[in-house]
Amino acid sequence: MCGIVGAVAQRDVAEILVEGLRRLEYRGYDSAGVAVLNNGELSRTRRVGKVQELSSALDEQPLVGGTGIAHTRWATHGEPSERNAHPHESEGNIAVVHNGIIENHNKLREMLKGLGYRFASDTDTEVICHLVHHELKSHDSLLAAVQATVKQLEGAYGTVVIDRTDSERMIVARSGSPLVIGYGLGENFVASDQLALLPVTRSFAFLEEGDVAEVTRREVNIFDVDGNTVEREVKESEVTHDAGDKGEYRHYMLKEIYEQPTAIAHTLEGRIAAGKVLDSAFGENAAEFLKDIKHVQIIACGTSYHAGMAARYWLEDWAGVSCNVEIASEFRYRKSHLFPNSLLVTISQSGETADTLAAMRLAKEMGYKATLTICNAPGSSLVRESDMAYMMKAGAEIGVASTKAFTVQLAGLLMLTTAIGRHNGMSAEMEAEITQSLQSMPAKVEQALSLDDAIAELAEDFADKHHALFLGRGDQYPIAMEGALKLKEISYIHAEAYASGELKHGPLALIDADMPVIVVAPNNELLEKLKSNVEEVRARGGLMYVFADKDAEFESDDTMKVIPVPHCDEFMAPLIYTIPLQLLSYHVALIKGTDVDQPRNLAKSVTVE
Ligand code: M6R
Repeated sequence: MCGIVGAVAQRDVAEILVEGLRRLEYRGYDSAGVAVLNNGELSRTRRVGKVQELSSALDEQPLVGGTGIAHTRWATHGEPSERNAHPHESEGNIAVVHNGIIENHNKLREMLKGLGYRFASDTDTEVICHLVHHELKSHDSLLAAVQATVKQLEGAYGTVVIDRTDSERMIVARSGSPLVIGYGLGENFVASDQLALLPVTRSFAFLEEGDVAEVTRREVNIFDVDGNTVEREVKESEVTHDAGDKGEYRHYMLKEIYEQPTAIAHTLEGRIAAGKVLDSAFGENAAEFLKDIKHVQIIACGTSYHAGMAARYWLEDWAGVSCNVEIASEFRYRKSHLFPNSLLVTISQSGETADTLAAMRLAKEMGYKATLTICNAPGSSLVRESDMAYMMKAGAEIGVASTKAFTVQLAGLLMLTTAIGRHNGMSAEMEAEITQSLQSMPAKVEQALSLDDAIAELAEDFADKHHALFLGRGDQYPIAMEGALKLKEISYIHAEAYASGELKHGPLALIDADMPVIVVAPNNELLEKLKSNVEEVRARGGLMYVFADKDAEFESDDTMKVIPVPHCDEFMAPLIYTIPLQLLSYHVALIKGTDVDQPRNLAKSVTVE
């Protein structure tokens, strides 16, 4: 989703800003722009399309100046166009970039029009610039004008403001959309994600909700929501990722699929000892929080929700606690029942998904015993606001379609199952079996990746299809859901997942030779049931692709292609069967020629509602 970069330096900053935007490209956007201050002049360049378009425009007509702001926009209010691209300006003096949504923008727009302001865009953001411009008339500094402005805003914002008449500073404000200050030597920066600033600094402070900061070359002064000066801890970044590096791979998605053995090994590192998962994997006071848990409520969106769906089977079956899983955007707008001794678990790669964050805040008000986030982004809002955090350590995930984050989430959730289970009757033997399975996962994923060539061939069958059905049972049903999501996200083929027992209650009507049916079939206690469902499809002329354990005894014929998946135990099976489905969606997208890493209409981190 939208990205922000800002800088105050003694050198020209346009290039730093554009490089920062490049590093945020993966989040998804449709236009980009930059504004720079130089000796009392405010210059701006904006382009629809990729950051490269903006960069080429700047090559032709460079922007000179040491203070500047830049933005990639993912349209919410107003179509993707140059006039709607950020930065927005007021009266040639104030320039603003903004992430989030100003919900009372219509009311503010009418008020500002009444004051004589003319609007040049359809965006909600433009009200911020005119408001700051208006407030400057009655306040003696840009800081005071921005503080007065944000008091009038309803909704979410991460915003940076600069003033033509004061080229020494930028004012930064955060409420609902993340912003991080980057500290340099004689220069300072701001961005919506630290990845954008890694070429210029590794020292970062995350702004908190309601913070407003004044950033100059030499100083950063931060004020809380009440205007009091506050300190926000400056930390050295642990992020090692170079966003520009795809290595030998053609796409980030493929790179991230292949990184899974390493990512899983990293997530396990130092967290298992003597056949037990260490409570410390979930944060400092985790042992205390986890010991009385009797119910788990999981909240997440998209792929992270599918990981939660799989964990429900494990928590109820092996950890002996009840578990509900809900999509965050539903949970946050309904009245739900709070069970005694409930743990609220959020799952999020980015840690900034607006719906998940709002649901977690609601849960805190409801009185959950504790909140835990399973998250890949250190310092993100979910991590900072949760009582406990399981840091995934999967490394930065750039492809919009989540892959390694999903399998690492599954590994983390399996660890959580044991940490809760041991207080609810899980035997030491079972915990040892699970930890052994966890430790052998990286090697088994490696084996599953060797299916790549076979799956690339299979993908040819899908390229001219418009629909596909994914089937699974038990904890493989969420894996089927994840397989369907991957296919639709990057190849734009309509795909649905069903628990295969549900086939006869409706979806069987869809079966014909043009509807490929993908089945995940490990050799488990539901295999015979699944085989009956396979027969139901066969009897109706459906063409099936069955990913199966060789012991499951499926055989390829005219109606069925069987793809043998390496034999694995029940604890790791959901994770292992995910790999071929990821590869399938990747190869179908390749054949269809879609934008694998940045599929249309999607954003990597959905920071607005
Ligand atoms: O960062 P999060 O895990 O909270 O993101 C949740 C979803 O937006 C995300 O998983 C989305 O569904 C992905 N595009 C799936 O590939």
